[in-house]
Amino acid sequence: MGTNANPTGTPGSSGSSDPPSAASESQPAIDRQTMERICRAKWDLEGMIDCVADLMVQVDNDGVVKRCNLAFANLADRPFQQLIGLKIGELLAAAGLLAAGKCGKHCREFSHPASGRVYCCTAYPVTDQQGELRGRVLTFQEITQQLAAARRLERKNEELAGAYEELKHSHARLLQQEKLAAIGQLAAGVAHEINNPVGFVTSNLGTLAKYLGKTKAFFEQQQQLLDRVAGAPERDQAAELRQQYQIDFVLSDAHDLLRECLEGVERVKLIVQNLKNFSRVDQARFCSADINRCLEETLAIAWNELKYKAEVVKHYGELPPTWCHPQQLNQVFLNLLINAAQAIEKRGKITIRTWHKNGAIMVTITDTGRGIAPEHLSRLFEPFFTTKAVGQGTGLGLSIAYDIVVKQHGGEVTASSAPGVGATFRVRLPVRGEKDSGDSTGGRGGSGQGGAHE
Ligand SMILES: Nc1ncnc2c1ncn2[C@@H]1O[C@H](COP(=O)(O)OP(=O)(O)O)[C@@H](O)[C@H]1O
Ligand SMILES: [Mg+2]
Repeated sequence: MGTNANPTGTPGSSGSSDPPSAASESQPAIDRQTMERICRAKWDLEGMIDCVADLMVQVDNDGVVKRCNLAFANLADRPFQQLIGLKIGELLAAAGLLAAGKCGKHCREFSHPASGRVYCCTAYPVTDQQGELRGRVLTFQEITQQLAAARRLERKNEELAGAYEELKHSHARLLQQEKLAAIGQLAAGVAHEINNPVGFVTSNLGTLAKYLGKTKAFFEQQQQLLDRVAGAPERDQAAELRQQYQIDFVLSDAHDLLRECLEGVERVKLIVQNLKNFSRVDQARFCSADINRCLEETLAIAWNELKYKAEVVKHYGELPPTWCHPQQLNQVFLNLLINAAQAIEKRGKITIRTWHKNGAIMVTITDTGRGIAPEHLSRLFEPFFTTKAVGQGTGLGLSIAYDIVVKQHGGEVTASSAPGVGATFRVRLPVRGEKDSGDSTGGRGGSGQGGAHE
């Protein structure tokens, strides 16, 4: 568009408020030929402007519309005569254009709800030959497609960022699981190493107990002999010596000490056995297992953490053996039990229930702890979600449990809670035989169905 509007042209198709005039009193008359040339030039110019797909409007310094192009008149669905002379605000309203904020340093976004289009409006100053401001030309360039493409790109970016986050979490989870597996192996190795010395200490203590019995018998018989054959002074001397060396006390205390040592060694043996059972390195794969036994082994391991916090009540139902990864399930139960103990402030109760129903094994672990806030229920199984102090909680216990139960065993793990009353975690494991697992050596067994929370 010529920025200096022609004040004399005959109107072409573009609307113009400037009436063509042949001459004015102060201006010399224009001959017919010149007039025709001017008119043609104006027609050409306006024809050109009408070819432009962008909307164009020219306003004077008061914001009154002097002309607009065909694209604008089409959008407004009105003849030029009805648009020229309107204030710019009225014109935009007539065209159904709504301001929608800035879209650049010098431009504003306009939406056209009727068509769903979006325009970018730029204002250019119009000056006369002396450089005086005569008004402005506003252009409206349609940016609907660009905006849609930008939004698509934004969405893709968000998806990509989400996938990256998920990848990071999976990586951390894998690392954690590997660490746990390594700790399990280490524990099993240590247990194995302890077994040997514990074995010979037990055996030696047994022998020592026998020796002590013999020594005691010898002293008794010696005393009887003395009583029979020795004279009074020798008997008194022997009694004195016996007292001096506290033989009676030594014999009875040595017996007590040996009994305590044997009890202690028995306890070490039990701990070693529990450790071995818990880590089950010899069965670090899928096998047929009894879930009640898994719970018992886990309780034995977690006992030190639980005993000061809670009374543990067990209601074990009768369960069929199921094809599972016992080492992993022990990890799930351990995470749930430790969480339960940590939720109890002073002392409370942890109830473990198991039962068999509709081809599935159900396990619930209920505590009388502080409970879970409703807004946290949906986030429990997210990796790194924790309400515990830094260094106390990693936020990975439940996400690992979810992984093992849902993804590795095709089961479900859910949580419910009344804040202040306690929480219940429910694990559902489909009962499977070796054939159903589709993989006898481990790996993914289930379809991964099941909700994470209620
Ligand atoms: N028995 C429970 N009672 C109350 N809140 C629980 C219980 N179990 C889990 N939670 C909540 O779930 C969060 C995540 O648990 P978890 O994944 O084991 O991570 P962490 O124990 O390291 O915080 C905990 O921080 C806690 O807020
Ligand atoms: Mg935890």
